[in-house]
Amino acid sequence: MDILIIGSGGREHALAWKIAQSPKAGKLYCAPGNAGIAEFAECVPIGAMEFEKLAAFAKEHQIGLTVVGMDDPLVGGVVDVFEREGLRIFGPRKNAAILEGSKAFSKDLMKKYNIPTAAYENFDDPKAAIEYLEKEASFPIVLKADGLALGKGVLICQDLEEAKAGVREIMEDKHFGEAGNRMVIEEFMTGREVSVLSFADGKTILPMTTAQDHKRAGDGDTGLNTGGMGTFSPSPFYTPEVEEFCRKYIFQATVDAMAAEGRPFQGVIFFGLMLTPKGPRVLEYNARFGDPETQVVLPRMKNDIVEVFEACVDGTLDQITLEFEDNAAVCVVLASGGYPVAYEKGKEIRGLESLKDRDDCMVFHAGTAFKDGKIVTSGGRVLGVTCTGADLKSARAAAYEAVKSIEFEGQYMRSDIGKAIDEC
Ligand code: AMP
Ligand code: GLY
Repeated sequence: MDILIIGSGGREHALAWKIAQSPKAGKLYCAPGNAGIAEFAECVPIGAMEFEKLAAFAKEHQIGLTVVGMDDPLVGGVVDVFEREGLRIFGPRKNAAILEGSKAFSKDLMKKYNIPTAAYENFDDPKAAIEYLEKEASFPIVLKADGLALGKGVLICQDLEEAKAGVREIMEDKHFGEAGNRMVIEEFMTGREVSVLSFADGKTILPMTTAQDHKRAGDGDTGLNTGGMGTFSPSPFYTPEVEEFCRKYIFQATVDAMAAEGRPFQGVIFFGLMLTPKGPRVLEYNARFGDPETQVVLPRMKNDIVEVFEACVDGTLDQITLEFEDNAAVCVVLASGGYPVAYEKGKEIRGLESLKDRDDCMVFHAGTAFKDGKIVTSGGRVLGVTCTGADLKSARAAAYEAVKSIEFEGQYMRSDIGKAIDEC
């Protein structure tokens, strides 16, 4: 079966790498792809938002399954376009991807179905939001733009003045564009964060192993928010008790709630959880694999991923058992200096071949391109270097050793990915 992947980042490289291992996979294509993905898939110059062109390509090339990595096309309805054309595609329809596409929707869903999350109010008028802050809020408080904002539409405000400025930034100055037409104001919570990616077929949900991201640009969780500077898996903070709670009150409850709303969710639900002193709470939902969570979760997965994708599409996930290696993985992201603000592109990347034959080490390309026969940087996050090991400490040591082999001008990384595990 020939397979098309939609996306171009490290997540899609990890997907292509994993899909290529499936006995069911024939030729792979990726739209638009990148220089690393090109090793496994033919890269096709069609943008992820060009739905009609993507569907026409899938028809013409008799693609048996399309896999969507990114959030924008899912929220925009790429799955509906493919299904209308009779094409098989893995991912939620538009009416289910709203779980990520609208934070106001997801908060209302959680409230209606008693799924534990932070207390909140939704607003579509900045004056009402400011009035609420003046009369009822306690600080710190969290402001969230309703729509997609590259993971950057969340502001944690320490006092009333900061919060009022935040409302203006989101709703009046439209810092995050249309995403700020509505906003959520919610209670500030504290605790460890854990990401749980899961497969869902509309009825059944199968959680994968856990991961933890590092969203801030600088060591010690300082600096600006990024797409993610590194991950580790599994999370040692996700104890059997936490898992039992989440299975009981969060995972199945979410799938059931979506089904009850007439929005059956088929695809990946990514639960962003906070382990608060009062128990696990949902911080956010995403309707897709995480980036760079995927780069540590898939290298530990034993299953044939194509079989799992098909079970999600066919509604037969209850016949699958997910299995993960009893090991650990750490991914360190190498970024262009200046990311996430301003950075240069087109820098030659050296040393990639030295890690090529290592079974315990994968270099997933995020922002790379070919130029004059060389691989060069083409984005803020450039590479994700994942190493596996018997435990988190050895995986981390291996990842930080491996990154030493790679070199490009302006290269930047965090030096404390996975440091939290030292506290265990
Ligand atoms: P989100 O995009 O909703 O995951 O938010 C991005 C980040 O903001 C999260 O990973 C948390 O670190 C932080 N955050 C979001 N909501 C809250 C909250 N209610 N309390 C504390 N921190 C939060
Ligand atoms: N790593 C967070 C995300 O993919 O949204």
